[in-house]
Amino acid sequence: MFSTDVYVRRRRTLTEKMSSIPQGKRGIAIFLGNVEAPQNYRGNDYKFRQESSFLYYWGLDEPGLAAIIDLDSGEETLYGDNVDIDDIIWMGPQPDIMSKAEKSGAANAAPSKEFDAAVIKAQTQGRTVHFLPVSRYYNTLKLSTLTGISPENVRRTRPVAQGKASSASEELVKAVISMRLIKEDCEIEEIDKACEIGYLMHTEARRGCKPGAREQDIVGRMEGVTISKGWGVSFTTILSQNGETLHNHSHHQIITPGRMLLVDAGAESNTHYASDFTRTYPCSGRFTAQQKEIYDIVESCNELAFQLARPGVTYRQVHLAVARHMLESLGGLGLVRGDVDEMVAEGIAGLFMPHGLGHNMGIDVHDMEDLGEDYVGYDEDQKRASQLGLGSLRMARKLCPGHVITDEPGIYFVPALISKWKSEGTDKGFVNYQALEAYGDFGGIRLEDDILITPDGARRLGTRRLPIKSSEIEDIMSRE
Ligand code: GLY
Repeated sequence: MFSTDVYVRRRRTLTEKMSSIPQGKRGIAIFLGNVEAPQNYRGNDYKFRQESSFLYYWGLDEPGLAAIIDLDSGEETLYGDNVDIDDIIWMGPQPDIMSKAEKSGAANAAPSKEFDAAVIKAQTQGRTVHFLPVSRYYNTLKLSTLTGISPENVRRTRPVAQGKASSASEELVKAVISMRLIKEDCEIEEIDKACEIGYLMHTEARRGCKPGAREQDIVGRMEGVTISKGWGVSFTTILSQNGETLHNHSHHQIITPGRMLLVDAGAESNTHYASDFTRTYPCSGRFTAQQKEIYDIVESCNELAFQLARPGVTYRQVHLAVARHMLESLGGLGLVRGDVDEMVAEGIAGLFMPHGLGHNMGIDVHDMEDLGEDYVGYDEDQKRASQLGLGSLRMARKLCPGHVITDEPGIYFVPALISKWKSEGTDKGFVNYQALEAYGDFGGIRLEDDILITPDGARRLGTRRLPIKSSEIEDIMSRE
């Protein structure tokens, strides 16, 4: 937890942002912390993870808390229950709710049941109840029961109509996003720490990438690094020799010479900030000529994105510049042919990179996507594309100092997608399918760094960068 004044300041800023609503009509903003989630029976819970916006505004990293800001009076109340002797027997002594309120800088504390009563009272008085869209099912049902809004709609965002919320509050979502998107110095320090753990995780994975090793062993050793140094992984590890499957979570194969191992994994620090890196390794320690050609293109795309990322440029423009460079380079290998600008416009890069260039990162690895992907990743004057690849771009906004984003180009040869494009003529004649036949069992390559937008450009997060150039990778693998 940061110092109390950080949370007091954040809530003050949020309240000011919500003050564009006329005084007397603002209502209340409610924050639901997460509760324990049983894996199979009560008492055997998943590891507790606090709701991220609750963590951001209140700092308290424990289950069963909720909070209200009265946007008209400015009054702040933390809700939760003091432990009884049964709890103390199983969990040990706990601070009381008033001490927790003091830690987060809230003036008032009250038992949980008073939270429900406060929400119902506000509604009865015709006051607006602003809330953020909910991800977890328990809180979805709780909020739905309290507000009478259907479970489906408490997970959606809309503007408040005539003072009556019929869904999560667009006003609150926009105010929260405007703050969490721009990382504070204390947050950047924590992300740097998460990146250092990520560096150590990936180093362990690279060292484990030896012919005959089991993918699952590598995952276990790599995840052990972040469990011993931080909270755990920031998302389910992707580690596979079938790198063409973008989110491949099966780790049952044996490392086989001639193939490549794609490792996309990150750490979550003890303060819950994320890192997210991807590297792709030759299983035998050396790339084949064909692998190296594609690898070097992906590496140059990663570098190009980093060079272009700076305030004032949109990440959509950076994505498209990378798509252009990728197509030009693939054209050099004879895999596509024709005018590069036309290919970019037709979305031909989507055949090779069917995902976006990157996403926001912070307390969540895909930061705030629970609040709505387009609210988080798109400016009001931007519209999401429908093309494969560009349509999956999760961060398209005009870049500003303080944005933390991933730079993760990739090239994949997905046999089913190639067949589909070929049979449906999606490529409009730009793709050389005959040349692509030599890439049937190639797999995929992705290379990802985390970057901070600075006043005059960008900085790669973490104190050291994982080796990335093909020559560096081969050199280091030959010595490990
Ligand atoms: N690195 C995993 C993802 O961005 O989804």
